[in-house]
Amino acid sequence: MIKRCILLGLFVAFACSDGAPQYLDRAAMMDPAACKDCHEQHYIEWSGSMHAYASKDPVFLAMNARGQRETNGALGDFCVQCHAPLALRLGLTTDGLNLADVPEYAQGITCFFCHTVEAVEGSHNAPLRLSGDLVMRGGYDDPVPNTAHASKYSSLLDRNSKDSADLCGSCHDIVTPSGVHLERTFLEWKESLFANENIAPPQTCGDCHMAGRNDVAADYDGVFLRRVHDHKMVGVDTALTPFPEMESQLAAIEKDLSTTVYARICVYDDEEPARVRVLLENMAAGHSWPSGATQDRRAWVEVVAYGADDEVIFESGVVAKGQPLTELDDPNLWRIGDRTYNAAGEEVHMFWEVDSVVSNLLEAPNTFNVLDPEYKDVHQEREYILGDVKPERVKMRVRIRSMGLDLLDDLIASGDLDPAIRDQIPTFTLGTTQLTWTPDAGKVCIPEDHTDP
Ligand code: HEC
Ligand code: HEC
Ligand code: HEC
Ligand code: HEC
Ligand code: HEC
Repeated sequence: MIKRCILLGLFVAFACSDGAPQYLDRAAMMDPAACKDCHEQHYIEWSGSMHAYASKDPVFLAMNARGQRETNGALGDFCVQCHAPLALRLGLTTDGLNLADVPEYAQGITCFFCHTVEAVEGSHNAPLRLSGDLVMRGGYDDPVPNTAHASKYSSLLDRNSKDSADLCGSCHDIVTPSGVHLERTFLEWKESLFANENIAPPQTCGDCHMAGRNDVAADYDGVFLRRVHDHKMVGVDTALTPFPEMESQLAAIEKDLSTTVYARICVYDDEEPARVRVLLENMAAGHSWPSGATQDRRAWVEVVAYGADDEVIFESGVVAKGQPLTELDDPNLWRIGDRTYNAAGEEVHMFWEVDSVVSNLLEAPNTFNVLDPEYKDVHQEREYILGDVKPERVKMRVRIRSMGLDLLDDLIASGDLDPAIRDQIPTFTLGTTQLTWTPDAGKVCIPEDHTDP
């Protein structure tokens, strides 16, 4: 028998036994900081993630506070089910109004929470059943034994298994208390070709959001090189207050966004009036783009045309730094995202007011086979009429803000959000959508497409 000794907290108790190893206790295992000793890289990646930030995000706190007030508390634990799931289950919070006082180990979506999920009992609003034990579930069926915890394989935590999408998806899919299917990332994925086993092995959330690398999974005796997985899990949200790993999160978002959308611009400069046609297609997201909190996101297309003297002869979607997109007086604006309405048909922004959703997202393909009767053409096109001046140069790009400045202004006006947060919202430009057309190349479309007239 291997003799194992561990140091238990302040007591410096040597738990040496010749039998079963003496693992860390429940309090220690619930604390992400306890994982850092052996899983430092996982800890660093997670510490800057939106999962770690989920219960600290000032916009979340502001929106939850306003929701509790405006519904006289009827919102209850709705938001913290997903944003502070461990704290809720430990009884450390009921409505999220005391999150500032909740101990650090229970903030956000923790290591312990994900790694002790035993079953997923639904498709939305975080119906996750925890095991109640201290066994860390993961994707390895041959984990190297260690003194901190027992380990075990679970298909819910193996990105090569379709089940793993249930774990992620059931939180990334929201049905509001009044029954509106507001955020639908999981549903969108299930309807996409990425989930269709008849086409190819499924590509799960983890396949795209947890890149693998060859490394050791723990700094510990007896481990060997194998596939380990990135825990940064970026989307478009960023920390808005000082937080670990802000630069690496930002860089990862820019990299992922840079290849998400395919764009093509065609300029018919010989016609009168001259016309510009823009085509967009979701190229890499395994669900719609944008996805999730699309009612809060602001994504749009910017098109600018210049004449012979480089003067602007047409523009759409040109938003200044700090200017809300919704403030543009732009009849041609191509905005991508959901709009939400109350029962009276007025546009609203808060979860608890929403009665219906009008969706306009770049959907993921459901199959690449055009002969398939189910085939859906998911590309979208818009036309811009330029006027009489012949364009000498036309530029375009797709941009996104994680949250609309108009939404933040609303939360600032109600006294729920610190105005300083507003300046922290980045505006991303999607790399592959930055295109410039000029007549010199003699091409109508950039990039060229031979199937095009
Ligand atoms: C004393 C060192 C140590 C500590 C502390 C520790 N682990 Fe581990 N953990 C390991 C070792 C060693 C492995 C096995 C790695 C391998 O097989 O390559 C492992 C494996 C895992 C696995 C994979 C299990 C599987 O079967 O796929 C998970 C998940 C995990 N640990 C989570 C955690 C979490 C969460 C914490 C903090 C609460 C933690 N660990 C703390 C050493 C540790
Ligand atoms: C949102 C859920 C989630 C959170 C939070 C999370 N993990 Fe994981 N983790 C996973 C998934 C899923 C895998 C399995 C990847 C695979 O094998 O396909 C994984 C794998 C692991 C592994 C096995 C090695 C590897 O990279 O595959 C370790 C160790 C681990 N996580 C440690 C941690 C630690 C430590 C934390 C907190 C600092 C943490 N995890 C937070 C979901 C999570
Ligand atoms: C307990 C619920 C829960 C689970 C399980 C969960 N997430 Fe999340 N996830 C969240 C919440 C809440 C946020 C947003 C936090 C914020 O921005 O304030 C988030 C954020 C994210 C983001 C960043 C979104 C953005 O727009 O920036 C990605 C990507 C992500 N999760 C992927 C995953 C993947 C992949 C898994 C499975 C391995 C997973 N999540 C499991 C609740 C969950
Ligand atoms: C085929 C690859 C792929 C799959 C599969 C996939 N995603 Fe994504 N996901 C992306 C890309 C690409 C983006 C856009 C890049 C970015 O936002 O950084 C994205 C963005 C996101 C975002 C940010 C929200 C936004 O507005 O775009 C969330 C949250 C997310 N994914 C969650 C999930 C979940 C949950 C699953 C599984 C149900 C999943 N993803 C499956 C590729 C994928
Ligand atoms: C079913 C799980 C779930 C519930 C319930 C939930 N959220 Fe979230 N929330 C998420 C996920 C997942 C994200 C990650 C971003 C995405 O999907 O685009 C997120 C992101 C956010 C964000 C940051 C991104 C943005 O653009 O808005 C805020 C703010 C937020 N949620 C507020 C709330 C509030 C307030 C409530 C309650 C009224 C709530 N959430 C309820 C899962 C949930």
